[in-house]
Amino acid sequence: MSDKQFKHKLYVKKNKEVSFTADTLAKIETVISHYPEGQQKSALIPVLQIAQEELGGSLNVDSMDYVAGLLHITPIEVYEVATFYSQFYLEPVGKYVIEVCQTGPCAICGGEDIMHYLEEKLHIKVGETTEDNLFSLKGVECLGACGSAPVMQVNTEFYEFLNIEKIDEIIATLRNTSELTKPESLSWKERLS
Ligand code: FES
Repeated sequence: MSDKQFKHKLYVKKNKEVSFTADTLAKIETVISHYPEGQQKSALIPVLQIAQEELGGSLNVDSMDYVAGLLHITPIEVYEVATFYSQFYLEPVGKYVIEVCQTGPCAICGGEDIMHYLEEKLHIKVGETTEDNLFSLKGVECLGACGSAPVMQVNTEFYEFLNIEKIDEIIATLRNTSELTKPESLSWKERLS
């Protein structure tokens, strides 16, 4: 561990049991190095993304405090960002986090029906995770693709122009494969069909 990493550890409050692997710390150091000296706070979002991945998909208070220590900022600055962005999960989630847009344009185009259908299909309510820990269901605000409404995001993949048939296909694919489908590989004509 480098001196810099050791110094980071000194900022972490005592009795916190979070620590990252050397690989993860190296990744974080690389991210921080992209920002000017003294501006490491700017690396907060990518560092939280790395932390969430390292910690199995969600953040807790100890891990956010740890990130604060790594960036030499106060814990409240980390909490503010982690609680603002829907990409950060403050409770354990399933392997696939389904985020359905609930904002006006998507709602008008069937987003609410999509959400209700997913609740029925997965036997969970919004905010819950299936018993097999495969799916978590969330409602989120505008995902920035209103022209393709209704839309949802599953982990880092985007699904547009949703309807019941597409939902069935997506869920079946996710249940049967270890990898997400890549809707980007479809042409606009195929997406609209
Ligand atoms: S309203 Fe759903 S993506 Fe903008």
